[in-house]
Amino acid sequence: SNRLLSTSKVLQKQVQNVTIIGAGLMGSGIAQVSAQSKLNVVLVDQNDAALQKATKGIHSSLARVAKKKFAEDAAAQNKFVEGTTKYIKTTTNINEGVKDADLVIEAIVENIDVKRKLFAELEKNVKSDAILTTNTSSLKLSDIGLNLKNKQNFGGLHFFNPVPMMKLLEVVRHAETSDDTFKTLNDYGKAIGKTTVACKDTPGFIVNRLLVPYMFEALRMVERGDATMEDVDIAMKLGAGYPMGPFELTDYVGLDTSKFIMDGWHKAYPNEPLFKPSDLLSKKVAEGKLGRKSGEGFYKYTK
Ligand code: 3HC
Repeated sequence: SNRLLSTSKVLQKQVQNVTIIGAGLMGSGIAQVSAQSKLNVVLVDQNDAALQKATKGIHSSLARVAKKKFAEDAAAQNKFVEGTTKYIKTTTNINEGVKDADLVIEAIVENIDVKRKLFAELEKNVKSDAILTTNTSSLKLSDIGLNLKNKQNFGGLHFFNPVPMMKLLEVVRHAETSDDTFKTLNDYGKAIGKTTVACKDTPGFIVNRLLVPYMFEALRMVERGDATMEDVDIAMKLGAGYPMGPFELTDYVGLDTSKFIMDGWHKAYPNEPLFKPSDLLSKKVAEGKLGRKSGEGFYKYTK
């Protein structure tokens, strides 16, 4: 049994180098929490402007975390922020960025063709035992990874916004994800301080499969004239203990993102009443009211 133990130790992969593709809100958050756990992070995006914006965002989010961790101690706060940022490198050269990665996390645009192309390219440039993952919130892993040669080392890591605050990580396995890969992904989740749950490759995994239809039912309720959106938000905060009401949450997630998720599911499952799109939401998106990020969604925001 000793021999078995040592063999399994050798086989057990440990993630030390993480490369994140896509420096948007999710990618930045994933980079930040990985760096906070002293993993070596490479953050990749197409242009320097995106990387600079991400670096700034990570800095201010780290400052918020530091303030909580080291109240009143400005020197300790600074040390934490500077010490954490040291673990993050950025590059626009994707092949260079992934070559030492134990784990690659894709957090780019939710477009199946773009993602498929990216994964085909990634597979050519990573170490043979690297694990490739997607942070998709709405697409099927089996579609994204369709052309991968090594499907065993492919899985899903679904994070929640804001990544530094939300304690959950959904670890997704598709039909061919190996037990080893699944275990390594769970270990990574624990290493970065998240609680993991196991999900299959089904629409919305656990959280979004419940949360998105709930957000749309709130829209339908207002469309029917049953209640005002303000009252729906108050009701769910004070009557169900949610930190945000469904309209505040849709503003936070992005109206375009919410619409995109539902449109995709509706197309795939046209007879599922829970996946019915909302005219009210579509109208807002057409008007460019995308939520907090555009300054207005269901509510108005001032910076
Ligand atoms: N970085 C670091 N710290 C942050 C932060 C960030 N980006 N955002 C918030 N915080 C911290 C603040 O510093 C603050 O700390 P403090 O309590 O010590 O002062 C704390 O979080 C609370 O922040 P606020 O006082 O600004 O506001 P709230 O109390 O309303 O909390 C919230 C903000 C954590 C976002 C909370 O409202 C919440 O949990 N909302 C629900 C979020 C949610 O449901 N997310 C999932 C969306 S679905 C998704 O992401 C899936 C995708 O696929 C669509």
